[in-house]
Parts: sequence; structure tokens; C-alpha cells
Amino acid sequence: MIISFEGIDGSGKSTQIELLKDYFKLKSIDAIFLREPGGTELSEQIRTILLDNKNVINPISEILLFEAARADLTEKVIIPEHNLGKIVVLDRFYDSTTAYQGFGRGLDLQIVDSMNKFATNNTIPDLSFYLYISYNVSLDRNINKNYDRMESSGEEFFKNIITGFDQIAINNPKRFHKIDGKLHSTEIHQKIVEIIETKLSVNKNINNLSEKKNG
Ligand code: ADP
Ligand code: TYD
Repeated sequence: MIISFEGIDGSGKSTQIELLKDYFKLKSIDAIFLREPGGTELSEQIRTILLDNKNVINPISEILLFEAARADLTEKVIIPEHNLGKIVVLDRFYDSTTAYQGFGRGLDLQIVDSMNKFATNNTIPDLSFYLYISYNVSLDRNINKNYDRMESSGEEFFKNIITGFDQIAINNPKRFHKIDGKLHSTEIHQKIVEIIETKLSVNKNINNLSEKKNG
């Protein structure tokens, strides 16, 4: 199973991923946790370039760098680990590109979609959790933070990204779960666990059925 976490900077993704890590450990569920861009040596190097405030990067170069990092991570880690039966948990995946480079930077959404599919070899998460917070809440939460190159992009950029994530939620009602990021973190965690447990039990029933069918 592949699970991704999405939302603007400061929405609580890392907090929820840490809680999920503890939960899987407690349940002895084999899971691997990765962040985007990152997770391989090459992708971490690309991450450094993308977040460096000194770099001036145009939107086309920016999307190509994000997709290059993603293609490396998908081929070297996500697909092999998924094929081994592990749960792969991603701190961001291609929906971030749709929201940030498509809606945020204004790149053509059909081209962004094709690039996402090309970079991931059509890999689609089974579940995505979108933690929704407003731009103002994000500002409050990040008040003491040193902003990286992406985070320095301004109010209009982030408002367009929120519109983007909301649109992705509308377009993918089964996969993309929008959760109020202002709820208490334990409440958010409980909602996430409930949705994962339901998905795991549905998958288990499907596997049992196909085992029976194959004798
Ligand atoms: P992200 O990984 O999405 O950037 P973080 O998990 O790092 O977000 O959270 C950003 C800030 O908001 C941190 O200071 C964190 O403690 C705080 N935070 C996370 N979840 C919540 C929540 N549900 N309610 C209030 N504050 C939160
Ligand atoms: P990161 O530290 O992972 O995000 P966060 O602040 O939420 O913990 O930084 C990654 C930045 O890159 C973040 O601002 C979102 C942005 N991004 C894109 O613009 N496009 C993408 O495809 C991805 C994966 C991230």
C-alpha cells in the first residue's frame, strides 16, 4: 500500500507521519517512510538545489527538477519496497506538483499531469491525506521559521496552492481524504488510522477471495 501526505507547509504532515510511525511500530506493521523531494542520494541533492534561496529557478526548470527527484525515488525505492509488500508512506508525492507547480506557478495542468505520470511510471497512491489549513494558520505556525526558496513565494502563490489541493480532493474523492488540519493532532491521527484500517481490511478480504478462487 502506498500512502501520501499532502498539504501546504506547516499543515502538520510531519507531525502526523511521526504518529503513524509509532502506530505501525506498535502494530508490527512493516512500513517505510520517505520524503519528497528526497529519499535517495540523487533526490536529496536535487532537494538542496530546489530549496536554496540563492537559486533563481524558472517554473519549467523547477518542475523538471521535482520530477527528476521523483523519478529516481520511485524507481529505486517506492516500487521495489511496494513490490516487497511494505507500506510506503510518502511525505508529499505528485499531488504536490499539481498543486505547487500547476496551480501555484500556473503551469499547464495537462502537461503537469503527463509529467507526473511519466516520472512515477503511473504509480498512484492507495490513500492520500490532505491536511487542510488556511494561509493565515500556516503563517502563524511558521512564525519563527527560516523560509526556504519555496516558502518565500508569497501569499497569492499559497492561496492558489490551497485552491489546487481542494480541486484535487474534488477530482479524487475515493483516494484523497481532506482532513481539517486545525483539529487536535491526536484527533487527526485517529481519523487517519481509521481510514487506513478500513483500507487494509478491504485489501485483506480481496486477497482472501482471490486465494480461495485460485484454490
Ligand atoms: P508540515 O510537515 O506539514 O510542514 P509540521 O508537522 O512540521 O507540518 O507542523 C508545523 C507546526 O505546526 C509545528 O510547530 C507543529 O508542532 C504544529 N502542528 C502540527 N499539527 C498541529 C495541530 N494539529 N494543531 C496545532 N499545531 C500543529
Ligand atoms: P518540505 O520541507 O518537504 O515541505 P514542508 O515545509 O511541508 O515540510 O519542502 C518541500 C517544498 O517543496 C515545499 O515547499 C513544497 C515544495 N514542493 C513542490 O513545490 N513541488 C513538489 O512536487 C514537491 C514534492 C514539493
